[in-house]
Amino acid sequence: MKTIGIVATSLDGYITKHDSEGATFTSEADQKYFREVLKTFDCSVVGATTFEASKDAILKWSYDGRLRVIWTRNPEKYAQYQQESSLEFSSNSLKSILENLQQRDKRHCAILGGTSVYTECLQQGLMDELWLTLEPLVFGSGKKLAEGILDVGLELVSLEHLSKDTILLKYKHPAS
Ligand SMILES: NC(=O)c1ccc[n+]([C@@H]2O[C@H](COP(=O)([O-])OP(=O)(O)OC[C@H]3O[C@@H](n4cnc5c(N)ncnc54)[C@H](OP(=O)(O)O)[C@@H]3O)[C@@H](O)[C@H]2O)c1
Repeated sequence: MKTIGIVATSLDGYITKHDSEGATFTSEADQKYFREVLKTFDCSVVGATTFEASKDAILKWSYDGRLRVIWTRNPEKYAQYQQESSLEFSSNSLKSILENLQQRDKRHCAILGGTSVYTECLQQGLMDELWLTLEPLVFGSGKKLAEGILDVGLELVSLEHLSKDTILLKYKHPAS
C-alpha cells in the first residue's frame, strides 16, 4: 500500500492560521485539487483534532467508498459516528493502523494530518510521499507541518502550478 501525506502550508510552514483550527486559508485552486485527488485514494488516516475541525465535511462524504480511520486515544468517545469500513476510530499506533489497512487490501492511503499525524509518520518513515501545496501566505503563528526534533530528507519528484500563485510540490521518501 502506498501512503501519501497531503497537506497545504503557508510559506512559513504553518498548516493552520494563528489560533484557528481548520485549513480554511487554502486557495480555491487547492480546494478543487484536494477534492479531486481524494477520489484516487481508497483509505485515509486523520487525527481526531482534524476530524473535529472538518467533522461536517467528513460525515457528509463518509459513504463514498473510502475508509477513513480517525486516530484518537478515546475511540469510545466517537462510538456514535463509527461506521464499519467507512468511518472508524482507532487508538492503535499509526504503524499498526496502516498495516491493518494493507491487510484489508487497501492500495492508496492519504495521510491527512494534522501536525501530530504528519510528525509521527515522518518520524517513523511511514509516508512514502508528501504532496505539499504551498500557498503564498505568511502567518507567523499557527500549527506547523511537524513539530519536535526531526531530521527527515525527502526527494523532489515534481512541481506544478495549481494556479498562478499556488504550487504543488510532490516529494518522495528516499527509501520508498
Ligand atoms: N493545512 C492542512 O493541510 C491541514 C491538514 C490537516 C490538518 N490541518 C489542521 O491541523 C489541525 C490539527 O492538528 P493537530 O496536530 O492539533 O491534531 P491532529 O493531528 O489532527 O489530531 C491530534 C489528535 O490525535 C490523537 N492522537 C495523538 N497521538 C495519539 C496517539 N499516540 N494514539 C492515539 N491517538 C493519538 C489525539 O486525539 P484525542 O485527543 O481524541 O485522543 C490528538 O488529540 C487542525 O486545525 C486541522 O484543521 C491542516
